[in-house]
Amino acid sequence: MSEQTLWPVIAIDGPSASGKGSVAELVAKKFGFHYLDSGALYRLLAYAAHTQSVAWSDAGKLAAIVSAMAIRFDGGEIYLNGEHVSPYIRTEQMGKGASEVAVHPEVRAALLETQRNFRESPGLVGDGRDIGSVIFPDAVLKVFLTAGVETRAQRRYDQLVNRGETANYDTILEDLRQRDLRDTQRSSAPLKQLPDAMLVDTTKMNIAQAVDMIVEAFKKTAKNT
Ligand code: DC
Repeated sequence: MSEQTLWPVIAIDGPSASGKGSVAELVAKKFGFHYLDSGALYRLLAYAAHTQSVAWSDAGKLAAIVSAMAIRFDGGEIYLNGEHVSPYIRTEQMGKGASEVAVHPEVRAALLETQRNFRESPGLVGDGRDIGSVIFPDAVLKVFLTAGVETRAQRRYDQLVNRGETANYDTILEDLRQRDLRDTQRSSAPLKQLPDAMLVDTTKMNIAQAVDMIVEAFKKTAKNT
């Protein structure tokens, strides 16, 4: 067993706009763990491809872009080849692009090692679609964090409006439905609730309650190991 595999991983998977990013970050903070926002990696790739006029359907070229990407996460901000790109990758367009580039097995394989390298002392919280199934199948706690699609659309709408952007609820709802379909129906590492994952449905729950549930569940697993 390598030293790296000793550090515990909490895997939080779920659909877009379920709140898993906020929840995962707070759980990581609670335990002083590292945090992997795996969706950001797919968003970075979609953005890099877009700036180089490479189509999101071109698996070969996309995989080549991954190997040339110098990625740095710094206090919640993201840098690609030295450029601060956080605002550019958090757009609805790059969310859609991320979901499109993520269907290619070549792309997923190219990003595998980068994600596993986030596992460092004293532990890691990772969020995404395949953290518990593919990236860290030995995670000590697996969570499927979800919410009804209308609730997620409303939250995304509020988020955009609060940022001062124009938003249309119906368009967001339709985009989320399409993204859910693409993320759950693709053949390579589709999003699914694993049999050994704890279900956290945030439709009628706030972020703090979801965080508490996960923190308590992790404390229990830590006691039992
Ligand atoms: O979590 P997010 O909304 O930032 O993710 C954007 C897209 O990236 C998502 O629709 C699918 C893809 N993704 C993935 O396929 N696997 C992951 N582990 C994380 C994200």
